Amino acid sequence: MSLLQTVLSRAVPLTLAFTAAFAVPAAHAQGSTADEIAKYRQMLADGNPADLWEAAGEEMWKKPAGPKKASLEQCDLGKGPGVVKGAYVELPRYFADTGKVMDLEQRLIHCRMTLQGLTQAEATATPFSGGKRSDIERLVAYVTGASRGLPVNVQLKHPAEKESYALGKQMFFYRGGAYDFACATCHATDGQRIRLQDLPNLLEEKGARFAYTTWPAYRVSQGEVRTMQHRLYDCLRQQRFPEAVYGSELITALTMFLAKNANGGTYDAPALKR
Ligand code: HEC
Repeated sequence: MSLLQTVLSRAVPLTLAFTAAFAVPAAHAQGSTADEIAKYRQMLADGNPADLWEAAGEEMWKKPAGPKKASLEQCDLGKGPGVVKGAYVELPRYFADTGKVMDLEQRLIHCRMTLQGLTQAEATATPFSGGKRSDIERLVAYVTGASRGLPVNVQLKHPAEKESYALGKQMFFYRGGAYDFACATCHATDGQRIRLQDLPNLLEEKGARFAYTTWPAYRVSQGEVRTMQHRLYDCLRQQRFPEAVYGSELITALTMFLAKNANGGTYDAPALKR
């Protein structure tokens, strides 16, 4: 069994609740897209609501919580305990204390477990806001915001980082599911569109940098800040792949592949998106 198959087989089966934009009739989709664009313009004029997520995340980072009543201020995001500035643009990276390549969300889960004493189930309970608000989305907004203006700079120095990149690349081109789609089906050609949405070419510098440096983002259509984990989760759903386990090695590998392709791009998120 290849590493990719091993990782995929760990994924939980996808429920058939498929509610992507594609299911909506064209006329309606275009109307709502136009409405959303109008809302988006308004938001731009008013500033980015993601600022509120950043502020809430900073408060959460500094506030003692969990059974150990500790804050996250000693969390090591790769640049030493407590260093938040510039940490995100160097992630994913290899962490010697866990022996793993981790992305930001995995590392936050790790810190909440080790520093604050949360169980894995507690630390991963609400990865994305739905009925319940997600703490992780707020923490991610805070940490990513502290890298704004810095160049994406992931290094493939450690062998585990090289492996993660290779796995992500393999996954990007891996075709499967009901439509036999890969990420590459939608994201490896210039000028492709689905309805009114431009699909960035993630293999080319311009598209890769733009896409990577503008996540997480406040999504006007959802009224939430969505993380990179959520973006990939959503694309895997559009691809009709099994739902990836939150914080899995596979999502980190895909993120590593995207980040490496975006190296040198100026980080500019949390951003604002449709
Ligand atoms: C069926 C087509 C389809 C497939 C397959 C697909 N995506 Fe997407 N992807 C989209 C659409 C649609 C968007 C949203 C574009 C928009 O909102 O403008 C998107 C957006 C993205 C973005 C954010 C781009 C930006 O500029 O905000 C990333 C990153 C991304 N996809 C990565 C992936 C990866 C990695 C895979 C494979 C796991 C994948 N996608 C598979 C359709 C697809």
